[in-house]
Amino acid sequence: MMNETTGHKTTTGTTEAPAPAANAPAANAMWGGRFAGGPDAIMTAINASIGFDRRLYAQDIAGSRAHAAMLAATGIISDSDGAAIREGLITVLSEIEAGRFVFSTALEDIHMNVEARLKELIGAPAGRLHTARSRNDQVATDFRLWVRDQCDAATAALDALMRALLAQAGAGADWVMPGFTHLQTAQPVTWGHHMLAYVEMFSRDRGRFADARARMNECPLGAAALAGTSFPIDRQMTAAALGFDRPCANSLDAVSDRDFALEFLSAAAISAIHLSRLAEELVIWSSAQFRFVTLSDRFTTGSSIMPQKKNPDAAELLRAKVGRILGATVALFTVMKGLPLAYSKDMQEDKEQVFDAADTLMLSLAAMEGMIADMTANRASLEKAAAAGFSTATDLADWLVREANLPFREAHHVTGTLVALAEGKGCDLPDLSLAEMASVHPAIDQSVYSVLGVHNSVASRQSFGGTAPDQVRARVAHWKEVLK
Ligand code: ARG
Repeated sequence: MMNETTGHKTTTGTTEAPAPAANAPAANAMWGGRFAGGPDAIMTAINASIGFDRRLYAQDIAGSRAHAAMLAATGIISDSDGAAIREGLITVLSEIEAGRFVFSTALEDIHMNVEARLKELIGAPAGRLHTARSRNDQVATDFRLWVRDQCDAATAALDALMRALLAQAGAGADWVMPGFTHLQTAQPVTWGHHMLAYVEMFSRDRGRFADARARMNECPLGAAALAGTSFPIDRQMTAAALGFDRPCANSLDAVSDRDFALEFLSAAAISAIHLSRLAEELVIWSSAQFRFVTLSDRFTTGSSIMPQKKNPDAAELLRAKVGRILGATVALFTVMKGLPLAYSKDMQEDKEQVFDAADTLMLSLAAMEGMIADMTANRASLEKAAAAGFSTATDLADWLVREANLPFREAHHVTGTLVALAEGKGCDLPDLSLAEMASVHPAIDQSVYSVLGVHNSVASRQSFGGTAPDQVRARVAHWKEVLK
């Protein structure tokens, strides 16, 4: 037949595929029906995901077992085929777990590797497993299951870290230390209060993982390639078997969104940022100039040239690890941006980012828990530093407001003058004599000295959420109850 406008001979009606080159690779056994030859080696290299998605083997097999049970229960496949498939999959699982499974790059991904091995093991019935299913709903299901587990693991690790912080907070509920703004001495706070600040942060991280988990707990299986299926499947059954709350309600959405992974990464990134801030404080606090804390030998390293050194490497690495997690987060957001519905192969790029971020987060949480549990806070150094830098100047200003009825602005100014006086003399506020104080404001009397001590200062901060030891102890008790 001739094409009227181009004059070229068309192949309509004579659909003969071009003959493959003599040494061309064979067409793919799983989807190669319409292909005459196999992919180029470069194509295989860019396309295959088995190098990393083998990590989803347990989820993939669990998903397939649930799917096979459903296919048999609904009469879509026979009970005997269903049973053979389910048993065969257990064998595949044990082979992978024993390290006896041979992964094939030609089979692209974990889904086809498992199915191909199943076929070797049980023969023809294996070919029925993929009825009413696609790799698109399969991978979306596997990955959700994996990320869901990571949410649980992160929650457990955060709980452990919070417990370690609570032990520090309880032990030093009334130990004073400088509180900083701009890393300049601001007001005295308690060690327990500072530890509890991180408990609050990590508890919100925990909440973010819990929220993400609850939202992601819908089952994509049964969405098939994108449109659902004409087979009478039971999506409630597979969803329940895999511990999902319900099936995803829209097949296009089910196979094409990765917001659950983005949420996990976002929660991980925020948590990593919290970890990096605590890590930074540990680096500063463990320095010879601060000596607020001593890190244990278990979480520090020596220098090969400077014998005196004990470096806070774990804390430094934690401070840096956030870069990887945030990088993974940005990478997956970028992959997903602008993708049309439904599945696109772009989404295969989701896994390595999430795997690396999850591994990094888990290691970071464990390292921080270890460092905090082992750390010794140096009470004397903390207390000495707490009194330096005119840290009770605000208490003096508040005293002038309370006892001499000065407007706060005027009290602030008077106190500033006293600070300048002390600074000029090279002493601290409590070292000024009463005569010197009174020369700046006549209302000042002996009782002012009581508020210039750091212990009085923190004890007076009784407002809810304030640094007073009583407040700290109450909050420690609260969290211990929550984490019981
Ligand atoms: N390896 C693929 C992924 O991770 C599995 C889904 C492939 N689907 C497809 N239609 N090629 O996304």
